[in-house]
Amino acid sequence: MENRERNNREGEHIHFIRPYQEAMDFLLVQINILNDDYRDKYKNYPIHNIQSRIKSKESIFEKLKRKRLAPTCENAKNFLMDIAGIRIICYFETDVYHVMDMLKKYRDIICIKETDYVKNPKPNGYRSYHLVLGVPVYHTDGKEYYPVEIQIRTLTMDLWASMEHRIVYKGNNQEPGKTRKIFFELARELKNQEDKLYSLEESTLKKRE
Ligand code: GTP
Ligand code: MG
Repeated sequence: MENRERNNREGEHIHFIRPYQEAMDFLLVQINILNDDYRDKYKNYPIHNIQSRIKSKESIFEKLKRKRLAPTCENAKNFLMDIAGIRIICYFETDVYHVMDMLKKYRDIICIKETDYVKNPKPNGYRSYHLVLGVPVYHTDGKEYYPVEIQIRTLTMDLWASMEHRIVYKGNNQEPGKTRKIFFELARELKNQEDKLYSLEESTLKKRE
């Protein structure tokens, strides 16, 4: 590929990504404010950590290919909701719902898609609250909403999802049936342990009052 053509394509990609980055950065600032406000009010942070990423050019094209769509910016814009992604790791389930409620309340942000895999886990045991929020980005000629995919989960849900992603998706699994069973049971066990920790936290808080 000629250097100039390569530079043009790079330029086009950066131009394409910029509003997604702006939308994501705006939400990251808001989420950090929310965490601090909550801490001031209730003495505990609801959020343990926040991760974010912009989907790479290669995975954007790979995903379009999987969806049998031509690898163009136009298709990416029209069909992919997870070009910008934020993962919020909370301590407990109640924090997940609190954070989700607060996020949906921001003025001028719209909720494009919402799936509650916390109350309704996937058959394999996956749990998380998924939101796609539309965030307004202002150009010289007006505003346009850009989607940001948000996954909100607890530390134990994150442990499960990270291990499952690594072992089931990425690994060359020799015994899929056995692995599925192990992960299904692990999800139940982790939920039990989290519930126990939550009871412990509640009784500790009561003693402190
Ligand atoms: P994608 O095309 O993968 O984005 O799926 P979707 O649009 O049907 O949305 P869904 O809510 O099912 O999944 C979105 C994202 O959640 C995935 O890209 C993963 O990051 C995560 N996810 C969903 N299901 C699982 C699962 O079973 N295991 C793990 N580890 N992650 C999952
Ligand atoms: Mg995805």
